Amino acid sequence: MIKEKLLYLQTFGCQMNVSDSEKIAGLLKNIGYRPTNDSSLADLIILNTCSVRARAEEKVYNHLVQYKGLKRKRPKILIGVGGCVAQQEGERLLLNIPHLDFVFGTHNLHLLPELVLSAEKGERQAETDFIDNDSRLDLFPVDNSTNGVSRFVTVMQGCDNFCSYCIVPYVRGREISRRSADILEEISQLAAKGVKEVTLLGQNVNSYGLKSDGELDFVTLLRQVSEIPGIERLRFTTSHPKDFSRQLIDCFAEMPKLCKHVHLPAQAGSNAVLSAMNRGYSREEYLSLIGQLKTVSPGIQITGDIIVGFPGETETDFQETLSLLEEVRYTDVFSFIYSKRPETKAAGYTDHISQKEKQMRLDRLLAMQRKITLENNRSFEGSVQEVLVEGESRRGGQIYGRISGNRIVNITADPALVGQMVRVTITRGEQNSLQGELCN
Ligand code: 5AD
Ligand code: SF4
Repeated sequence: MIKEKLLYLQTFGCQMNVSDSEKIAGLLKNIGYRPTNDSSLADLIILNTCSVRARAEEKVYNHLVQYKGLKRKRPKILIGVGGCVAQQEGERLLLNIPHLDFVFGTHNLHLLPELVLSAEKGERQAETDFIDNDSRLDLFPVDNSTNGVSRFVTVMQGCDNFCSYCIVPYVRGREISRRSADILEEISQLAAKGVKEVTLLGQNVNSYGLKSDGELDFVTLLRQVSEIPGIERLRFTTSHPKDFSRQLIDCFAEMPKLCKHVHLPAQAGSNAVLSAMNRGYSREEYLSLIGQLKTVSPGIQITGDIIVGFPGETETDFQETLSLLEEVRYTDVFSFIYSKRPETKAAGYTDHISQKEKQMRLDRLLAMQRKITLENNRSFEGSVQEVLVEGESRRGGQIYGRISGNRIVNITADPALVGQMVRVTITRGEQNSLQGELCN
């Protein structure tokens, strides 16, 4: 019998990395690795990394330094780095970090079992070639985990937008859409295993299929997914405002399974900054899109991403971002301090804002958004919501799930309801979640 080996897999960054990590775990199961939560017991440690901001990248190096001691104590342990830092640094990581065994880029997940088997024999390798032809479509390894009622399904990867601050096009490569037949098949299989909610995932899902001859467009794909028996809820992320079509807006009125939530990053509220960011829309166009969504789907929840302290952002520009938060009344915002990234166009800009000023702007933005978020959460009090129960809360004795608008609700109820759709009266809106009671 082959001895079972233990894999400690650390994931940094976005949902795409979380999904890739599930695929990594599935691929390595085939060669005898089982996940562990304890790095000191592991036979193999993999860091699935993010380089979208400098801080995320530094974290990876800090962890790698820690593992040096572990490797000294247990020289047989293998250490690998994948994801966006691996893509960016490639061979350099092997040269600079002697206790590292292998490196695999964002297009090379399928090579991982071979890399690990070679590393077991003492070979040190880096595989970071981009695959920008159709064969890459066959390399979206399907995740084979079965747990949960709500799953993410990758529909496209990569990005061709080249926002001036963003490293993603350089580390994830050109945009490519998966074949719709494969996506529909994967979702049918998930539904057969009891999954009720799927979130279609991509760096820019709105451009799904547009660059593949004869492929479905995103709206048609959504409609076909919503017809799969067993699928009760449908979501998608991330959207780009410049590619959000009128047909897609209308889906929120026409498709009852489509949840009332859109993640629509604005990044900034001033036209000067949006233009320097190369976002491809104006503040007015963004607000018009939000207005149309709210008209078609009253009560729709909007979340977004904002970057503060982009090079050249004046106090007046920043105030326009603050007023955008007020106008949109986001449910929640992920806000980031601008971070200079190698290769990007903005890395060549000279008019940088001081770290102190960037931090002050972030604090002002967070304070404003916290207030809007709480007011919005309180506005649900007394309403009845459909909740898909996802699990047991960390607060004892409660279960949790999400409303269509993607807010988390904690409910004091029987854990046997996990996996069910239940009707809940919202009793309290708190800062980060809602409290609810089961309806009779
Ligand atoms: N600096 C700060 N934030 C960034 N993001 C992307 N690149 C940078 C950067 N260089 C943010 C954007 C994006 C989110 C995933 O990360 O807001 O939507
Ligand atoms: Fe980065 Fe812009 Fe592409 Fe989003 S759309 S991944 S921010 S380049």
